[in-house]
Amino acid sequence: MNINNKKIWITGASSGIGEALAIACAKQGASLVLSARNTEKLTLLKQQLVNSERHHVVPLDLANAEQTTDIVTQYITKHGSVDILVNNGGIAQRGTARETQLAVQRQVMEVNYFGTVAMTQAVLPSMTNGMIVTVSSVAGKVGGKSMSGYSASKHAIIGYMDCLRAEESGNGLQVLTICPGFVQTKISVNAMVADGSRFGKVAGSIKHGIAVDDCAKQIIKAIEQDKEEVVIGKGISYWAPTIARLFPKTFRKVTAKKNFRE
Ligand SMILES: NC(=O)c1ccc[n+]([C@@H]2O[C@H](COP(=O)([O-])OP(=O)(O)OC[C@H]3O[C@@H](n4cnc5c(N)ncnc54)[C@H](OP(=O)(O)O)[C@@H]3O)[C@@H](O)[C@H]2O)c1
Repeated sequence: MNINNKKIWITGASSGIGEALAIACAKQGASLVLSARNTEKLTLLKQQLVNSERHHVVPLDLANAEQTTDIVTQYITKHGSVDILVNNGGIAQRGTARETQLAVQRQVMEVNYFGTVAMTQAVLPSMTNGMIVTVSSVAGKVGGKSMSGYSASKHAIIGYMDCLRAEESGNGLQVLTICPGFVQTKISVNAMVADGSRFGKVAGSIKHGIAVDDCAKQIIKAIEQDKEEVVIGKGISYWAPTIARLFPKTFRKVTAKKNFRE
């Protein structure tokens, strides 16, 4: 799908991958709806985008699925639907399954899974064709140490989107799932640890990830090429799903020894 002149709703647009994607999509002639919680950052971003007046800021909290549904429905009633929804907003979690509080496991699921489902279901009634793009993760394809909640939420959304793709296959609605490996963003800084407080640091794995602009470029390429699922990244974070599929026992042995998120 060509993105020129398309209306694209991007969640998680205040930072990292969403912000880079917004900048790149605006340059290619798209009109954007920018969402996240931080209104100030979204407003600043809108002012910096090419054709600033064409874009809208719609703050929302993905942790509040009901409110998200209302906000999206009201926007669409007033301004019409979008051609592409990019479900990118999300939060990471770091800590073992043994020590991570249930409230933290639930919060990750609320934002990454139910928030994404709420966004999707709110745009679906007005979307007969177009594309639903969802930023899951390599952690949505394979498990590893210290990310049970995050990995579960990203696996769950891949499952939801696989089903949606099958259901909509005859209707002209495309469903694309993006599985990035490590990307240089603030994801680990904003991650929740076992007790729900912030990790607050850039993890080494993230430092050595791909550049955020490169990630945005590859997401746009996947949209333009009508892909259904792509893995984006380098090194082990790129190859992990393939290794796990072809050599599952070896992969499990390696993940038992090494924490790839350090
Ligand atoms: N960076 C990586 O290595 C990597 C790898 C695989 C997948 N991903 C996925 O990529 C997506 C973007 O993450 P990023 O790497 O760009 O991290 P980031 O820089 O921390 O950005 C996360 C974005 O999500 C938004 N967000 C978080 N909680 C939210 C909530 N409750 N409601 C609404 N928006 C919320 C944040 O905005 P506010 O704080 O303003 O709400 C921010 O715009 C996430 O889904 C992440 O899981 C990242």
